[in-house]
Amino acid sequence: MATRKIAVIIGSLRKESFNRRVAKTLMLLAPTQLDMEIIEIGQLAMYNQDDDDSPPPTYTEFRERIRAVDGVLFCTPEYNRSVPAVLKNAIDVGSRPYGASAWNGKPCAVISASPGASGAFGANHHLRQSLVFLNMPAMPQPEAYISNIGKLYSGDDLTEDSTKQFLQNFIDSFATWVERHAD
Ligand SMILES: Cc1cc2nc3c(=O)[nH]c(=O)nc-3n(C[C@H](O)[C@H](O)[C@H](O)COP(=O)(O)O)c2cc1C
Repeated sequence: MATRKIAVIIGSLRKESFNRRVAKTLMLLAPTQLDMEIIEIGQLAMYNQDDDDSPPPTYTEFRERIRAVDGVLFCTPEYNRSVPAVLKNAIDVGSRPYGASAWNGKPCAVISASPGASGAFGANHHLRQSLVFLNMPAMPQPEAYISNIGKLYSGDDLTEDSTKQFLQNFIDSFATWVERHAD
């Protein structure tokens, strides 16, 4: 089976981010045909449409890196029942200039995690609203809202077996989803 390059986008800049830990767990569990790499977003200045004609180099590099992948995995927390601004900014940066969105057509999946009970459901679905507009086929099942995330990790180790099995099924399903939408 062909290798598929996957961009992993994490919607948190926090050093001890649980969503980054979930992303790293998924990268460990991923089947070999997925070549997954975290693409950082914290270096992207707040998007300003005035800069479309002379974008900052960080924008150009980010857009090129997204263009080069076969799929995108979003791992996001929830801020005030929505997507953290840093993630929305990265989405906006990648989507411009108009007509040249780097995201266009890339299959993707969304997983959200929170120390709270809702598993960041609100952020997960706000993100999906943008993905429809961006023409990114988003894996519908399995849905992934990881609640009580603070109790599932000891350092970087996921200690809960049932969650590990869930994440294994999630990443295996994503590999199938990417393959189905491959060019
Ligand atoms: C500005 C802000 C807003 C937040 N709003 C929510 C929220 O709406 N729902 C929720 O479950 N947690 C919320 N939280 C708590 C985050 O889920 C928690 O900080 C989480 O650990 C962030 O993800 P991370 O560990 O990947 O950085 C909020 C945190 C911050 C800083």
